[in-house]
Amino acid sequence: MKVLIVGSGGREHTLVWKLKQSKKIQKIYCAPGNGGMTRAAKCINLKADNVKGLANFATRNKINLTIVGPEQPLALGIADEFRRRKLKIFGPEKRAARLESSKVFAKEFMQKYRIPTAPFVAFDNQTDAIGFVKGVEYPVVVKADGLAAGKGVMIVKNFNDACRAIEDVFERRKFGKAGKRIIIESCLQGQEVSVMALTDGKTIVPLLPSQDHKQALEGDKGPNTGGMGAFCPAGFITSEIMDKINESILRPTLAGLRNDNTPYQGVIYAGIMLTKDGPKVLEYNCRFGDPETQAVLPLLKSDLLEIMRAVANGRLAGQPKLEWRKGTAACVIMASKGYPGKYTTGHRISGLKNSRSQGCYVFHAGTRRNGNELVTSGGRVLGVMGMDQNLKSALGKAYNLPKRIKFKGVTYRRDIGFRVLERQDKERT
Ligand code: AMP
Ligand code: GLY
Repeated sequence: MKVLIVGSGGREHTLVWKLKQSKKIQKIYCAPGNGGMTRAAKCINLKADNVKGLANFATRNKINLTIVGPEQPLALGIADEFRRRKLKIFGPEKRAARLESSKVFAKEFMQKYRIPTAPFVAFDNQTDAIGFVKGVEYPVVVKADGLAAGKGVMIVKNFNDACRAIEDVFERRKFGKAGKRIIIESCLQGQEVSVMALTDGKTIVPLLPSQDHKQALEGDKGPNTGGMGAFCPAGFITSEIMDKINESILRPTLAGLRNDNTPYQGVIYAGIMLTKDGPKVLEYNCRFGDPETQAVLPLLKSDLLEIMRAVANGRLAGQPKLEWRKGTAACVIMASKGYPGKYTTGHRISGLKNSRSQGCYVFHAGTRRNGNELVTSGGRVLGVMGMDQNLKSALGKAYNLPKRIKFKGVTYRRDIGFRVLERQDKERT
């Protein structure tokens, strides 16, 4: 089997790494890929949003399955284009990808199908939005409607901050076209969990639940990023809670998509808040999470290629049950100083060679080859993953790696998993 993976981040490197373990893999291409995957995959010089170019490449090279990592190509309709050309693809069509590309669409969908989520109101102009926030109870959450790389969500504590957030969107156009509309919703309290589930449009199969840390700074403070670390499984999710998530969120989501005639083949990611009134959806993504994937896939024993083919071929129901390793995997993101704001790139990365050890892996994100060297090329540079019996020892393994791997301006959070570890410590005393 020849596989094409679209994207260039840590999630895509993890997909390459996991698919490489499949016996049926003949060749993996990645477009455009990154500096860390050049041995396992052939990186090709096509950007992830070059839908036509990618479809031409898949045709010419007789690719058996294309797997889409990031959201932009899905929102642009890459799955529609591939299906039109009878090319197999893992990823939903444009209409279904609106679950991620339009928050207004996602909220209206949840309302229609009674999927639990925070109450909301949508606005397409500043005057009405400001009028509304005069009379609300704070905090509230202001969200840009479109894709904003995880940065379009603002939790505001008072009227002045709400006005600033609304003006940022409508007046200062901080999110460009993604900010034509906004939603304002109630702020939910509780623990967050990321649940990804595979679906072929008929059957839905959840993966192990995980948790990521979205904020840049320790203590979950500072600006939101794409994610600074993750671990799996999210130990606080009991099988009762998972059943509830299945029943009240995943199954109704699939039923709604079917009812609306929006076929979905790929992965649905639900960001969920466990509130005292039960699990509620914060957001949908129509792709694998990053960095959750770096913590979830290492625990998967089953052959991922077989599963993804079953998804793309609409025969997930006939697949054997997913098998998982016992234990925990944790991933810590090593980022460039300044991320998610401005940062510099082109810095040499050293120490990668002596970082190999049992139960550890370094997933590359923002790296590129420069002759024989690897240099930084993005905000999130590497995801160091450790796998072991429990969260504490998995993190111990992961945190050994930044001691050896160096690059100028490296920064990482030293407290991934802290809430769970603190709770475990308390329970022990
Ligand atoms: P989203 O991109 O919608 O997942 O939002 C990013 C982050 O903002 C989430 O992971 C939450 O931490 C936070 N968030 C979003 N919506 C809400 C909400 N209604 N209440 C509380 N926190 C929220
Ligand atoms: N880690 C959250 C995301 O992939 O959007």
